Formats: sequence, C-alpha cells, structure tokens
Amino acid sequence: ERVVLAYSGGLDTSCILKWLINKGFEVICYMGNIGQEEDFEQARKKALNIGASKVVIDDIQEDFVANYVWPAISYGLIYENRYLLGTSLARPCISVGLINCVKNNNASYVAHGATGKGNDQVRFELSCYTLLPDVKIIAPWRDEEFIAKFEGRQDLLKYAKENNIPVSVSPKAPWSMDANLMHISYESGILEKPDNEPPEDLFLMTQSPQFAPSQATRIEILFEKGKPSLIKLNDGRSFTLPVDILTVLNDIGGKNGVGRIDIVENRFLGLKSRGVYETPGATILHVAHTDLETFCLDKEVYRIKQSLRDRLSDYVYNGFWFSPEGIYTRRCLDFAAEQVEGTVKLEIFKGSVTVLGRSSNTSTYNEDLVSMDRHSTFSPQDATGFINIQALRLKEYHKSALKYI
Ligand code: ARG
Ligand code: SIN
Repeated sequence: ERVVLAYSGGLDTSCILKWLINKGFEVICYMGNIGQEEDFEQARKKALNIGASKVVIDDIQEDFVANYVWPAISYGLIYENRYLLGTSLARPCISVGLINCVKNNNASYVAHGATGKGNDQVRFELSCYTLLPDVKIIAPWRDEEFIAKFEGRQDLLKYAKENNIPVSVSPKAPWSMDANLMHISYESGILEKPDNEPPEDLFLMTQSPQFAPSQATRIEILFEKGKPSLIKLNDGRSFTLPVDILTVLNDIGGKNGVGRIDIVENRFLGLKSRGVYETPGATILHVAHTDLETFCLDKEVYRIKQSLRDRLSDYVYNGFWFSPEGIYTRRCLDFAAEQVEGTVKLEIFKGSVTVLGRSSNTSTYNEDLVSMDRHSTFSPQDATGFINIQALRLKEYHKSALKYI
C-alpha cells in the first residue's frame, strides 16, 4: 500500500521512512518548500537511498505567503497576545500539498513525524481529514510498536547506523526547530526549563538588538484590502510580490533584531510549553497593519473584528483553518479588511518598530472635525448634554456605593 510521508530529511523522518518500508509500505516522500533553509536535492538523494519510491519536492512558498501569511496579517492574528502563528499557518498549507500528492499518486495514507504531545499532529490530521475524509493517517510517534522500539534519540541513531541511513556529522542543536519564510520556532531540549535563557547562537534569522546598526532604517508599506502590496525602501528600491516583500522585511528586521519572543504558551492538548520564536518581517507587518487598521476601521466594527480575530487565532492554532467556523470567521474578517487601505511609514531600530505616520483614502478620520483649532460642524454645547446623560447613572451609584469609590 502507498503512503505519502511528510519528509524533512532529518533523523526522525528518515528512520520513519525506513520503518514504513520495512513494514511493507511503498513510501513517497513529500517535501514542501515553505522557505526553510534546506538542501532539497541532498534530501531527495537520501530518501531515494533509504528506499523511497519517489520524492516530491513542492515549492509552495508563494501559496504560503499569499494565502496564509497575508490573510493572517490582514486579520491581525496573534495567539495569546504574542505568537504570530508561523508554524500553525504553515500546517494547513503543507497539508494541501500532502493531499494533492496522495491524490496524484493514488496513495491511501499520509504519515508524519509530529509527536504525540504536540499541536502539529492535530493540525496536519484535521486539515488532511477535511481535504480528503477517507485518507488514512500513520503517526509513528503514537504507534505502540514504534515508540517501544524508539525511546529516545540514541535508538534512532542506532537504527540509522544499522540501516545505512546517513546521519549529519554536525552535532544536533540541543533543541528542536521549525523554520519557514515567516519564522523559526525553537522548543524542547534545553529550552524545556522555562528559566533557561536561549543562547545567542540559537537565533538564525535575527541578530541581537544589542549588535544592530546604530542608524535607523526607514521604510514605507502600502496595504490593499489589509494585505501588504508594496514596500518602499530608503534606497529607492521597492517590492510588490508577497515572497519578495516578506524576504526583504525578514532581512531588514533580522539585521535590526526585530521579532524575537520567548514565551510559555498553552498547547491545544492542554499542556503548557516554552517556545522561542523569531519572526522579523511579519512583526514589522503586524505593527504597521495594527496602526492602519484603527486608522481605517469604524469603531464598532473594529471591536467586533478584534473578538473574531481572537477566535480565529485559536482556531488556527488548534488546527481548524479548514473548518466551518474558520472559513466563516475568515470571510467576516475579509469584509472588514476591505476597508484597510493606505500607507504606513516606519522606522526600524535596535529591535523596535516605530510608526512615524500613516495615510489612507478609506479612513473616516476627519481632520476638520477633530481639530482643536476649528469648531467645524461640531457644536461643543452638545457635549454638555452628552456628559450629563452619561453622569446620570454615576450619580445614582454614588449614593449606594460610596464605600467602593
Ligand atoms: N509551538 C509552536 C506551535 O505550536 C511551534 C511548534 C513546532 N516547533 C518546533 N520547534 N518543533 O505552533
Ligand atoms: C511536535 O510535537 O511535532 C512539535 C511540537 C508541536 O507540534 O506542538
């Protein structure tokens, strides 16, 4: 029977590949290129040597940025106030690639190397089941026979040696990482102690704000329907393609130490886990978009929108990108985002992103109305009655609740 394995080229999925073959499966390895640093041709050779019947390398960077990262920016998605969901957003995108691979090759299984305590198993499997309800899933890290055989890394290394699976000579970093064009996340190993400080050499996308240039970098970002559509740099260069915009902003943010966070988050399964993230470009976009959004949106729409944003952030984190509630919420938020158009000017400097100014044709900001220098159509006397009516209730409260005031 034919399996499509989400293959990374690393030790775990290489052992899983061999283990599946030994169990009698025909295995096609699928590698989604979402912008992680990876020698894909090397990984292809490795998988074929181990015995994969085919290796599919799928460049899904454009799809990832345009259809997952850009919407997330336009909705302002953020999990537990800090995490911009870089891994969570990649999972449904990779799942589409996996399921296409299953269909194109008449396979019946998807296998993955996500662990039994994590979020990723849930995201992959829920996405795959929505896209192809009859697909069958193999999750070795939840398979009794597999986990009895492989208790730890030493067992994987031993198995690799016995089966002629090449193991990278450089010692493995004492943490696990997940990288794509939007971010790198680091977890487990020495990071499991929440009080252990991440060592400086962990960070691959950003340098420390301490060593960032002492000269600020200025940029301008144009948004259309809430999505970034143009960035202008100080040196006159400009970019419009999603992958280019994110790559250039990663570079600028990375040099200036933008977008590092170190958090303890709540996983879907109920465990707390400690994670370190670097998300340079998307952090710049998030700050710019947040500013433009309050500038453009109606006050009450903004408030409803924020509560839907919080709901959707949970849905995305929990693996429900493709779900009735996920799709419904995204549609609602798209409608609000239509109003968010304009340009934000920013300064990037030693880890911080500062808004310098904004302009928009869709904002209801009325300079004439708000000006301290003119009355315009506004009659200040009306504010007297407005305050009097608001005060009615408070004056009554005074009588009964003096002890609280
Ligand atoms: N905790 C993050 C999430 O659930 C990242 C998970 C994958 N990261 C990793 N280093 N293995 O989205
Ligand atoms: C994993 O278990 O594969 C990584 C962590 C997670 O999915 O939350």
